[in-house]
Amino acid sequence: MSRKKTFLNVQAQITKSPFLLDIEKARDCYIYTRDKKKYIDLVAGVSSCTLGHCHPEIIKSIESQLHRHAHVMVYGEFIQDSPLKLSQQLSQYLHRNLSCVYLVNSGTEAIEGAIKLAKRKNGRKIVISCLSSYHGSTQGSLSAMGEEFMKSKYRPLIPCHKNIRYNNIDDLDILDDKVAAIIIEPIQGGTNFVCANKEWLLQIRKRCDEYNIELIYDEIQTGFGRTGHMFAYEIHNIIPDILCLAKGMGGGMPIGAFISSKKNMDLLSSNPPLGHITTFGGHPISCAAAMTTFKILKNSSLIRQVSEKRKLFLKNLKHPKIKKIHGYGLMIAIEFENEIICQKIVKEALKRGVITFYFLFNRTNIRISPPLIIKNKDIIKSCRVIKESIDYCYEK
Ligand SMILES: Cc1ncc(COP(=O)(O)O)c(C=O)c1O
Repeated sequence: MSRKKTFLNVQAQITKSPFLLDIEKARDCYIYTRDKKKYIDLVAGVSSCTLGHCHPEIIKSIESQLHRHAHVMVYGEFIQDSPLKLSQQLSQYLHRNLSCVYLVNSGTEAIEGAIKLAKRKNGRKIVISCLSSYHGSTQGSLSAMGEEFMKSKYRPLIPCHKNIRYNNIDDLDILDDKVAAIIIEPIQGGTNFVCANKEWLLQIRKRCDEYNIELIYDEIQTGFGRTGHMFAYEIHNIIPDILCLAKGMGGGMPIGAFISSKKNMDLLSSNPPLGHITTFGGHPISCAAAMTTFKILKNSSLIRQVSEKRKLFLKNLKHPKIKKIHGYGLMIAIEFENEIICQKIVKEALKRGVITFYFLFNRTNIRISPPLIIKNKDIIKSCRVIKESIDYCYEK
């Protein structure tokens, strides 16, 4: 049986039309397949591989941790260097209200932990999130998802979750003294990178303060430099009560975190204790990779280069068939007239050696979220390929 057939048979599929690139290796901004093709990666594992693939310093830190120890104990019992130092470094960097880090395995687990923590904080049940939001695929995060079509077959989900319109101030009347938490993505990653506007966020922060509601920021896509700031909350300097991180955090390794005040986090350790249990959360090898990623992002000019790189994309993505370009930093959504043309362009660009991708909920835009290390020459080259693909798809 061919590898393709085996893959389709023995690995569970989540769509009827996977990309099916058969990976040989990946380096920097490039992915190489077994049939000897080289691709420019404009997706970075969906905003994950911030420093590209196989960054030598990340490899070194993984190797060195591996020689010391891998998993030794469930989360929270033993003191281990890499989770300790990573938590300390995040705590030192973040706003003082975000001083205590709970390390987990993934984005969805970070959201689960954050929702549980909010419920412990104010003893309430109602959780608000936005239409078109994506917070993960386990039942708690799925309950918060803002797309009924994706949720309905899994009902009953967790009750008392309600969706409001993103960027709509009128809908904020829902925030009152019965609400436990509101979860916000500063830039919506499942739709065409819609950005939260400042006034809306300020109103949310105000109401959360007024009614003692936990403001949860889902920075699972926006964190670790992607917006041109280390974290997107820095754009307007509006500080959440709980910050959720994952994806770009691990430099290609699986890790996530929910972060809050020490006082909040202490709620998880008593009455009842073990408020969130995870075996592999804060895995020492993932933490070693995350520490190196964070160090490189802090000490290099990569984050400062983000807005220039965005400008270069925009300058080179001028084409009469592109309706609009959305997003912020290296979160770029290219809007076309319909879903069919988007699919064709993504496939054609792929054939020509450039990986772009779709959005979960928005089918008239294509996604560009490259590694932050992408070189200017590759930005220019990949934009040229995208424009040629557009021409080809329209001519055909
Ligand atoms: C904004 C956002 N939140 C949460 C998640 C869930 O993260 P994970 O896939 O690591 O569970 C994702 C993943 O795409 C995401 O983009």
